Amino acid sequence: MGSGIAEACIRSGFSVMLRVRTERSEQAARAYVLRTLARDLERGKIDRKAHDAAIERLTVTTKLEDLAECDLVIESVVEDLSVKRHLFAELDRLLAPDALLATNTSTLAVASLAAATKRPEKVVGIHFFNPVSRLSLVEVVRTLVVSEETVERASAFARSLGKEPITVADEAGFVVNALLFPYLNSAVKLLERHVASMEDIDRAMKLGCNFPIGPFALLDLVGLDVAQAILGELYQESGDPAVLAAPTIKRMCAAGYLGKKTGRGFYTY
Ligand SMILES: NC(=O)c1ccc[n+]([C@@H]2O[C@H](COP(=O)([O-])OP(=O)(O)OC[C@H]3O[C@@H](n4cnc5c(N)ncnc54)[C@H](O)[C@@H]3O)[C@@H](O)[C@H]2O)c1
Repeated sequence: MGSGIAEACIRSGFSVMLRVRTERSEQAARAYVLRTLARDLERGKIDRKAHDAAIERLTVTTKLEDLAECDLVIESVVEDLSVKRHLFAELDRLLAPDALLATNTSTLAVASLAAATKRPEKVVGIHFFNPVSRLSLVEVVRTLVVSEETVERASAFARSLGKEPITVADEAGFVVNALLFPYLNSAVKLLERHVASMEDIDRAMKLGCNFPIGPFALLDLVGLDVAQAILGELYQESGDPAVLAAPTIKRMCAAGYLGKKTGRGFYTY
C-alpha cells in the first residue's frame, strides 16, 4: 500500500520521500512504482514526459530522519497498534509543528495514534483502497480530537490526487471495511461448510452480483494477515460473531499463505 500511495502522489505532482525499513524493500518499492508507471506508459495512459517527471519526484530512503522536511506523512506500516503508536511518537518528534500526520490504517482507532503525539489535532486517517492506482475512494477519518482544518487539508489532498474523499467517523472498519469484512468472512465460512468450491463462490459473486472480483481473489489481494487483523479489530469493537475470523484465515496466516504478496493464498500466483 505504501508504494501504491507514493505512486499516486508522484503522478499528481507531489515530491515524495518514501521511507522503507530495509534495502530489499527499497528495491521492491522502486521496482513496483517503475513497473506501474511503465505499464501506464505502454497503455498510453501517460506520456513519456509525465512518466519521467513522476519518477524524478520519487526518493526512496531507509532513514526515518529523511522525512523531517515533509508537510504530510502517511503511515502505512503493518496493522499493529503498538508498532504504529511507536512510529507516530517518533514522527511527532521529527516533523515540523505544522506537518500533518496521517495513517492508512484499515481499522485501528486513529484517536489512539493521535494520543501518541503532541499534535492530536493534526492527526487524521487517510484511508486508501487497494490497488491505489485504480480505486478512487479515500476515507478521511475524523477523530474526536482532530481539527476541522486538518480534515479539510486531508480531503483537499485526496482530491488533488484525483480521489474522491468521504469523511467517516473513527469507528473500526469505517464504512467500507465494516460492510465488506463480514461478507468476506462469510465466504470463507461457506467454503468451510463445503457449500460450494472457492472458484464457484468467486464466480457466483462476479456473475450473480456483478462484482469485479470474487471474495477469495479479494482476500488474496488484501492479504490474509491484513484481513485477520481487520476482523480481529472489528470483533473486538462490535462483539459481532459475523466478524469472528473463520479458522481457515487463521491457519493460512500461521502457514504464511498470505495471498498475492507471498505467492500463495487461496490461489497460487
Ligand atoms: N492490503 C490492503 O488491501 C489495505 C488497504 C487499505 C489499507 N491497508 C492498510 O495499510 C497498512 C499496510 O498494509 P499492507 O497491505 O501494505 O501490508 P504489507 O504487509 O504489504 O506491508 C506492511 C509494511 O509494514 C512494514 N512493517 C512491518 N513490521 C513493521 C514494524 N515493526 N515497523 C515498521 N514497519 C513495519 C513492512 O516492512 C511492510 O513494508 C495497514 O495499516 C493496512 O491495514 C491495507
